[in-house]
Amino acid sequence: VFDHVVRAPEDPILGVTVAYNKDPSPNKLNLGVGAYRTEEGKPLVLNVVRKAEQMLVNDRSRVKEYLPIVGLADFNKLSAKLILGTDSPAIQDNRVTTVQCLSGTGSLRVGAEFLARHYHQHTIYIPQPTWGNHVKIFGLAGLAVKTYHYYDPATRGLNFKGLLEDLGSAPSGAIVLLHACAHNPTGVDPTAQEWEQIRKLMRSKALLPFFDSAYQGFASGNLDADAQSIRMFVRDGGECLVAQSYAKNMGLYGERVGALSMVCRSADVASRVESQLKLVIRPMYSSPPIHGASIVATILKDRAMFQEWEVELKAMADRIISMRKQLFDALRSRGTPGDWSHIIKQIGMFTFTGLNSAQVAFMTKEYHIYLTSDGRISMAGLSSRTVPHLADAIHAAVTK
Ligand code: LMR
Repeated sequence: VFDHVVRAPEDPILGVTVAYNKDPSPNKLNLGVGAYRTEEGKPLVLNVVRKAEQMLVNDRSRVKEYLPIVGLADFNKLSAKLILGTDSPAIQDNRVTTVQCLSGTGSLRVGAEFLARHYHQHTIYIPQPTWGNHVKIFGLAGLAVKTYHYYDPATRGLNFKGLLEDLGSAPSGAIVLLHACAHNPTGVDPTAQEWEQIRKLMRSKALLPFFDSAYQGFASGNLDADAQSIRMFVRDGGECLVAQSYAKNMGLYGERVGALSMVCRSADVASRVESQLKLVIRPMYSSPPIHGASIVATILKDRAMFQEWEVELKAMADRIISMRKQLFDALRSRGTPGDWSHIIKQIGMFTFTGLNSAQVAFMTKEYHIYLTSDGRISMAGLSSRTVPHLADAIHAAVTK
């Protein structure tokens, strides 16, 4: 009965790792998936995470009972404070409901399912381009997905005029997906002034912001700075949704830890919204897993551990920024044709190089360097040792 099933293509991002794993070359380099690597090219478990895990193991009072449908209460409270700010008026007014979800993807999906059931507008505008999974998450939840202009290939910067025009002509009440910081894949973010203009326009048209926050602290090294766009929208008293991921900033990728916060008009609305979020979650996976959220809660509630985390987070962010500089210098010293200043201007984990899919295929074939076909490079996968190899490959790709 399954004979008719056709083989599906690999995921455009995770499939890059599948191809990389099959390559026997000793020089191979995976710059596809956004996952942090050390200077030695190894995955990193933060010291503070190891410490928290040890504390959890030593605590014999801990059991493996089911969490509530909405997840770990401490984790939810602390996650809302982390993203909205400890002094957030919305939290003080009890207008925020937060549910623990399966990392960023799960948080986006739960939010999308809720909106499809309970929100009057079913159109969501996502930036062009955006993280490939966004289209599928929102589409499969039953929302109509449209795009708004975001990236300008000519300047390798923001197409702010196009963005304002598209959001300006969106129907009233439409949902708008916004990357809170470190836009994936472009690394191009609006300035604070531009965010303020976006906010004004969106509020004037009652457009509903849905933030994807996958890189808090990872972009600038500062947790508060990377949450400013969201806090701007919460300060004005309006509603919004926020999907938070701890994959990158705590290195908890495979633990699948995230949260969905919905900022509502009143405490009463927030509690009714939460009751409906439970109806979304229960038939999907009943309740979320306990381990990763316990690690996060342990770190966020202890002042010393929190500070230790901030130091480790900043070190990761700084290493990525230094990779940008090194790659830029390496291309300049090779006299590689083109203006590569976007490498140092773009923000966060990725550089959107401007390389086309044929150039990417050439680099993979000839240099065993793996990246997504849109030319996105995970800077977190680079090290001082591998920069020259990448620079050689880019040079060869653009001069051949
Ligand atoms: C990425 O964009 O590489 C990451 O967000 C990982 C993923 O799940 O795609």
